[in-house]
Amino acid sequence: MKNLNIVVLLIVCVVFIISNFECSNKENLTMKIEKQAFGKIENGTIVNLYTLTNANGMKVKITNYGGIVTSIYVPDRQGHFDDVVLGYDDLEGYLKVTPYFGCIVGRYGNRIAKGIFNLNDKTYTLATNNGPNHLHGGIKGFDKVLWTAKEIKGKEKVGLELTYLSKDGEEGYPGNLSVKVIYTLTNDNALKIDYEATTDQPTICNLTNHSYFNLKDAGATPILEHELMLDADYLTPVDSTLIPTGELRSVAGTPFDFKILTKIGARINADDEQIKYGMGYDHNLVLNGKAGELRIAGKLFESTTGRIVEVWTTEPGIQLYSGNFLDGSITGKNGTVYKYRHGVCLETQHYPDSPNQPNFPSTVLNPGEKYQTTTVYKFLVEK
Ligand code: BGC
Repeated sequence: MKNLNIVVLLIVCVVFIISNFECSNKENLTMKIEKQAFGKIENGTIVNLYTLTNANGMKVKITNYGGIVTSIYVPDRQGHFDDVVLGYDDLEGYLKVTPYFGCIVGRYGNRIAKGIFNLNDKTYTLATNNGPNHLHGGIKGFDKVLWTAKEIKGKEKVGLELTYLSKDGEEGYPGNLSVKVIYTLTNDNALKIDYEATTDQPTICNLTNHSYFNLKDAGATPILEHELMLDADYLTPVDSTLIPTGELRSVAGTPFDFKILTKIGARINADDEQIKYGMGYDHNLVLNGKAGELRIAGKLFESTTGRIVEVWTTEPGIQLYSGNFLDGSITGKNGTVYKYRHGVCLETQHYPDSPNQPNFPSTVLNPGEKYQTTTVYKFLVEK
């Protein structure tokens, strides 16, 4: 009897070892990261494009210029893979003009009123590059700098680590800010973005990714039929220059109530002051749940393809931007013309103008502290 037990145990062990070996072999065969030249910046430095592929064939392309996610290929209901984000085929496009396609935004994502903020009794003046306000880090934000890239290969994941040192005074911000952004593609079709930063002087920091999604056709048609859910009971209403008034307003009964899946186009032209100021949706929603903990923030669904992207984040807010400034003047990947509202951004972040809003969660980063946030875009298909 005892011998029989030992034999059974041995067989179980052998089967376990073989199946694990096969699994890891499959992983090694299919999960990969490849690098190719993407173009050159003005000083002649070569910029690369990294293609991350997971075991299901999902692909994410990222360049170390601006940390831009240039493409995300995910399956539809039939298992057909298509790109679902807007952007350019080559670096040239991004160098010429871009409404922040797919990039890392920083040092401060979103707006700072009049480009001015106070920190420890000192006033800092930043570029006013969006009407009277500062937007997305200024003239040359993190979307327009070259990041140092390191490939990451792990069990069940491939990734790209990007680092950048933003010098004290760059774009008017105080302190040397050492930034690390890690993009990870996992075998459950999730693109995870981990943001980290440390500083040697008190400063402000608010990083995000600015991907424009169109789950149907990567920007060939409007996103108005896409359905959106946002787990947010409040929004931060804005003035006519899109600076928050400081109020947290309930979304109940307004076009900003996305608590259940609702077509983006359903109320986008509503007779509503906030909608008029944003020319559609261009607003920060206050996410429910505890900031600092990874929880679901929202879900975007496209019914003809069955594609879904879930957004998970540790951030307190999300900027819903319905591509209101796309006007057909940009021709992107595969000759696609990006017209009015052909892409939607779901930018996880702190609330706009937080440095000037004492009641908003703080975006101050002090020496000795670590800025650390995570956002996950998880791709699924409705069968
Ligand atoms: C802003 C928009 C802006 C866009 C830039 C968004 O994050 O909220 O107002 O036009 O970025 O393309």
